[in-house]
Amino acid sequence: MNTEQPVNFDPGLVKTPAFVVDEGLLERNLEILADIKRRTGCRILLALKCFAMHSVFPQLHRVLDGTCASSPHEARLGREEFGGEVHTFAAAYSEDDVRDLAATTDHLVFNSFRQFDRFRAPAQAQAESLGRRLRFGLRINPEHSEGAVAIYDPCAPGSRLGIRRRDFREEDLELISGLHWHNLCEQNADCLERTIGAVEHSFGPFLARMDYINFGGGHHITRADYDRELLVRLVNDFQQRWGVQVYLEPGEAVALNCGFLVTTVLDIVQADGDIAIIDASVPAHMPDVLEMPYRPHIIGSGHPGEKRYSCRIGGLSCLAGDVAGAYSFDRPLQIGQRLLFTDMAIYTMVKTTTFNGVQLPAIIRCGAGNGKLRVVRTFAYEDFKTRLS
Ligand SMILES: Cc1ncc(COP(=O)(O)O)c(C=O)c1O
Repeated sequence: MNTEQPVNFDPGLVKTPAFVVDEGLLERNLEILADIKRRTGCRILLALKCFAMHSVFPQLHRVLDGTCASSPHEARLGREEFGGEVHTFAAAYSEDDVRDLAATTDHLVFNSFRQFDRFRAPAQAQAESLGRRLRFGLRINPEHSEGAVAIYDPCAPGSRLGIRRRDFREEDLELISGLHWHNLCEQNADCLERTIGAVEHSFGPFLARMDYINFGGGHHITRADYDRELLVRLVNDFQQRWGVQVYLEPGEAVALNCGFLVTTVLDIVQADGDIAIIDASVPAHMPDVLEMPYRPHIIGSGHPGEKRYSCRIGGLSCLAGDVAGAYSFDRPLQIGQRLLFTDMAIYTMVKTTTFNGVQLPAIIRCGAGNGKLRVVRTFAYEDFKTRLS
């Protein structure tokens, strides 16, 4: 997001590189999500693939009902550190995955009838041997795209995600508790409205036979221009029309605009114009910037030419494309100056790597309202080494 985030701490006190997550900003998002829950009775899960900083799970669990996981590791993290419900979906499971998930997940969502047929009985038997009960869901593909970037569009042609209507089997549905879809990415409620229309058109006959319907993630509920009134109406109408419980599983909306990547300018070199090298790396610390791609916002910066001094910002790795983008500032950058990238809590933190052996950013919490910094994790040589042999 290109919005200016309030900085409630002194960046000069941060040993860089570091992710700083502001508990007060998280609370602001949680209040919005709590209001949606209050007005609809929907359940909201945290998508761990987006934000998995378990140090703040107790704060999040005061509002959110549980987690949605994409793997046995995420499901275990949700079970052990978050509590509440754990829902798991992966494009396919192995036998080992299912054995592990039987111990941690409450709702196991399958991407095909073949996997459902193969794993339903052994998964339930395994869960029962542990004194647990599993419920099963199916992911459907509404075949309705809302203009998300192709690699983030699960309804793009050829997508392997979700069962299409023509492949949907009507028998055995009594063994299925819920249907799940996910087709949005950073989108508003009008996109959800059209998606619901598409789902009702294709899968309408099955909806009332379910206990719950999960609308997936991608709802940018906590963004300033998000139409929350429409979301409330859509969820209430849907629940009433079909007699089901609605779940939402946002990732971004939970920690949107709550985190910074704090970096330091190490050098400024000439490369057809100034380029400042920071003590972070775009492919290692902000890989989604290259994957999406997008230009992350830096506090106090403008687009090139907008402010007096223009330059590019690059990282310290070997990759020629290790460049965050072109920016402008009121004054020339100085060696040792802090640069704060905004909105770095979502996806960025979970995707970091030690490519080039770069130092992983520390993880720091900023106290709500007091700017007090608490370092919760630092990384060292051992963390790099132990991943590799
Ligand atoms: C199945 C599923 N659920 C939830 C999410 C979370 O989406 P977001 O972080 O955009 O809200 C994703 C993101 O890819 C997803 O694939």
